[in-house]
Amino acid sequence: MIMKKVAPIKSLHGLDTLLSSEEIESIKVSFFEMQHLFQSATREISTKLEILDDEFKFIHRRNPIHNMQSRIKSIESIFEKLNRKGLEISIEAAKENLTDIAGIRVVCYYIDDIYKIAEMLKSQDDILLIRETDYIKAPKPNGYRSLHLVLKVPVFFSDRKEIVPVEIQIRTLAMDFWASLEHQLRYKTLEEVPLSVSKELQECAEKIAYTDLKMQEIYKTLMKYDCDSDL
Ligand code: GTP
Ligand code: MG
Repeated sequence: MIMKKVAPIKSLHGLDTLLSSEEIESIKVSFFEMQHLFQSATREISTKLEILDDEFKFIHRRNPIHNMQSRIKSIESIFEKLNRKGLEISIEAAKENLTDIAGIRVVCYYIDDIYKIAEMLKSQDDILLIRETDYIKAPKPNGYRSLHLVLKVPVFFSDRKEIVPVEIQIRTLAMDFWASLEHQLRYKTLEEVPLSVSKELQECAEKIAYTDLKMQEIYKTLMKYDCDSDL
């Protein structure tokens, strides 16, 4: 078996002043093992989503999912988040307290697709729903919309089973357009966005949400014509 070389860690957030180099090396190896565990859980959920997308296409002659991306939190970000939350830098603390080490973003065509995908996933009997936050029914004050789920999925290894949390963000193309730009604007520009700009961004989110609903209505109208013409 080829052993992967442990990648260098860019920033240790002051850990190097608290721990010996042997201790840091051992933490790094354990964190890479943990990343493998979360990567496996992400693959399981991604496969489930691909199967649901294929089946939907078979039944409804279109895919509900436009694209899907997964990411595993980098070791630097895990360290940073544990540090920020005043938690111990350990595998146990990360596993117990962070539910977003593994993340999947699912971008759908229509709003209804989001709920259909979420329901189909939640109803699978090896999936456990830990948290559901509906930022579509109750958008964030800045206008952010998405359906967030934290699910737990079992991962089977040669000698054990681990139940692993995965954070899933499900949104439409339009919601993704807004969230991507808003994220970029927030991180690439000033620390504090002026109030007038926040208001404008929030207004853009409202317009986008209105358009999302309209596009869905148009789709439903056309589907009705399509069904009528089949008769
Ligand atoms: P943290 O993960 O510590 O931020 O807290 P949380 O898990 O309670 O936050 P939440 O579920 O609200 O958000 C988790 C993720 O959703 C973030 O890491 C972002 O990817 C996304 N998100 C949440 N709010 C916003 C927002 O206002 N704008 C954008 N662009 N993305 C957001
Ligand atoms: Mg989070």
